[in-house]
Amino acid sequence: MQDEGPDPHRGEDVRRAGPEKESSVSRRRFIAASAAGAIGLGLAGAAFWPIWEYLSPQSAEGEKVQVTIPRSQLGIGQAHFFQYRGRPAVVFQVKPGEFIALSAICTHLGCIVNWRPEEQIFLCPCHAGKFSLTGEVLAGPPPRSLPPYPVTVKGNEIVIG
Ligand code: FES
Repeated sequence: MQDEGPDPHRGEDVRRAGPEKESSVSRRRFIAASAAGAIGLGLAGAAFWPIWEYLSPQSAEGEKVQVTIPRSQLGIGQAHFFQYRGRPAVVFQVKPGEFIALSAICTHLGCIVNWRPEEQIFLCPCHAGKFSLTGEVLAGPPPRSLPPYPVTVKGNEIVIG
């Protein structure tokens, strides 16, 4: 014969949660699980948001983004680093009134290049990739030139983008 548990009709003690108590417990569990899930999503979002920001384009396609730099900040033969669309970039005055703007991100593995005025090159500190002041690869592992950005001069301002 199988034991089917306590039988209330035989006077056995039955301690079951009533429907209200079960409902209350399951509601409490549901709220706790929802809160834990919301907190977990918030933490995951906070952790991955900087990565998403870094990897995603800074503006929609076709949206014009311009950066303005006073000409007074850039002498001949000098490089000026700035952020363009949230990424490192550099503008350089080749000769009076002639400017070149480039991405400052090495095309090898993404390190930020440095300007070497004594050699007139951009040097990548990671694997010694060398770029000319127009961004062409001179030496090292970078597979491509530094991407250029459009530059115009408007009065006393250099406008990139
Ligand atoms: S990341 Fe620039 S040379 Fe490797």
